[in-house]
Amino acid sequence: MVEIVSSKGALGARIEGLDRARANEPTFAAMLDQALAEHLLVVLPGAPMTPAETRDFARAFGEPQTQLLRYKRSGDVPEVSVMVSTLMTDGTTDKTAIRAEDWHTDDSYFATPAKATLLHSIEIPSHGGSTWFCNMHSVYDALPEATKKRIDGKRAMHGYDTPRARNRPSARTPEEIAETPDVEHPLVRTHPVTGRKALYLNPNRLDRIVGLERAESDALLDELADEARKPQHHFGHVWNKGDIVVWDNRATMHRVMIDYPVGEKRIMQRVLIKGEPPI
Ligand code: OGA
Ligand code: MN
Repeated sequence: MVEIVSSKGALGARIEGLDRARANEPTFAAMLDQALAEHLLVVLPGAPMTPAETRDFARAFGEPQTQLLRYKRSGDVPEVSVMVSTLMTDGTTDKTAIRAEDWHTDDSYFATPAKATLLHSIEIPSHGGSTWFCNMHSVYDALPEATKKRIDGKRAMHGYDTPRARNRPSARTPEEIAETPDVEHPLVRTHPVTGRKALYLNPNRLDRIVGLERAESDALLDELADEARKPQHHFGHVWNKGDIVVWDNRATMHRVMIDYPVGEKRIMQRVLIKGEPPI
C-alpha cells in the first residue's frame, strides 16, 4: 500500500511503498501531484535509476522540459540534466553549486518557470550536502499586515544575474543568453492547485520591485528575504543515494549546504517540470 507520511517540519512528505516504475499510472500520478501541491516537497527513497527511467518517473508530475544550460543535458535523454556539485581540490566548486548555496527558486528568469524540480541522487558525499527547503506560504502568512499591503499587486524583475545575488551564475552561450532576457513576475503568487498565496522571492535572481526607487526596493526585498531566512519556515533533506526529491517551485525556495568533503562525488540527475506563468 502507498502511504504519504507528512514530515513534522514546515513542509514535506515521504512517499512509502510506491513502485517507481508505476508512478506515472494515472492513479499514482494524481496522488503524487496532489501530495506535491499540499506538502510542497515529496521524498521517495529507492535506488539510482537511468536517465530514461528518471524522465519516465518525472512524467507523473507533468511534462519534463529541457533545461537552459546545454552542456549539462544527458546524451540521449535531453530532459534529464546531470548536475555535478563535487567540491574540487583547488577549493572551488562547480558554479551551479556555489550559486545554489543561497536561497532560490528554480527558473524564475523565465516567463514560464518550471512548476517543479526533481533531483535524483546518483553519488553523494560521505556526509554533509543536505538540501534545505523554505515554505513560501508560511513566509507570506508570517508577514506583518502592513507589509502584505505594501506588496499587494506589486511586480518584480527577475534576471539571470543580479548584483543583489551573493554569487555569480554559470556562464551562458550566446544562444542561452538570447533565451534569458529579464522578466517580470508578481511578488505574491497564488498556487493554482490549492489557491494559497505565496511570496515569490528569489534572492539569486530578483533585481528590483517595479515602480520603486532602488534603495526602497533593496530595503523591501531584504526585509522579505529576512522573513524567509527564519528556521521556522525550513525543512532539511539529508540525502541517501538513490533518493528522489521533488519540490514545488510555485511556493518554495531551496539551498544546498556546501559542507561536504573536497573531492567526494556529489552527482544528481535533475528534471524540470513545465509550469504556467505565475499569477
Ligand atoms: C537545483 C539545486 C541543490 C542541491 O538543482 O536546482 O538547487 O542540493 N540543487 O543540489
Ligand atoms: Mn535550484
